[in-house]
Amino acid sequence: MTKIKCVIAAGGLGTRLQGFRKNQKTKVLLEVNGMPMINRQIHQINQWGIRDFIIITSPDFDVFIRETTSKEFPNLNIHYSVQESPEGIAHAFSKAESFVKKDDILLLVLGDNFFGENPIKHIDFVNFEKNKGSIIFTKAVDNPSEFGVALVDEYGKVKHIEEKPEKPNSDLAVVGVYIFDYLAMDYIKLLKPSKRGEYEITDLINIYITQSICSNIQLLDWWIDAGTPERILELENKLS
Ligand code: G1P
Repeated sequence: MTKIKCVIAAGGLGTRLQGFRKNQKTKVLLEVNGMPMINRQIHQINQWGIRDFIIITSPDFDVFIRETTSKEFPNLNIHYSVQESPEGIAHAFSKAESFVKKDDILLLVLGDNFFGENPIKHIDFVNFEKNKGSIIFTKAVDNPSEFGVALVDEYGKVKHIEEKPEKPNSDLAVVGVYIFDYLAMDYIKLLKPSKRGEYEITDLINIYITQSICSNIQLLDWWIDAGTPERILELENKLS
């Protein structure tokens, strides 16, 4: 039976948050309005109707993350997998492979991304299961150069995606939620590291774009990539 499995990329160290509120840990263990970010993230995704999780951790914080999440969510199905070295989001995603079955639908969420709306609420998963492919989610922003940027046609098909371009060709930032069919696990093996030495999620998406099987959903409500102290404070405001 097809299942939606959520992979949470939680291995990043969050260098821009070291020292913030005396934080010496990894970003996802930082408290956001009194709750570790990773637990807030699981609550958020669980509200979207998801019960199966694979959390990708870093070696130094694997034990902490396991303890923190399993205490809070004894009734959810959570697996853990360690990303030994920080080699990019696509690399983190590949660490879920042993927990993924043929025909699973994969929902990849970056641990520090939070949303004012449920991004997957309008997706027809029965249709997705038939047609396969990938779905990205975008939000119009004033500072697209700080993100992956997507060019989308009038039918919602993604034509092009580029990681942090100097001269963005649209104002649509790609947010940290993605849907892929299980073939993503094979496609990742075809990727080469980018100039910054990472296996980029945008390069994985480009494989789907080349086959014309990547569509876009544009979000209208707020989105926060909580990677800096300012954005954590903004997130706390939104949540309270
Ligand atoms: C990552 C992705 C980028 C995406 C962003 C969303 O960037 O590489 O494409 O737009 O997350 O939060 P990072 O925040 O790791 O620099």
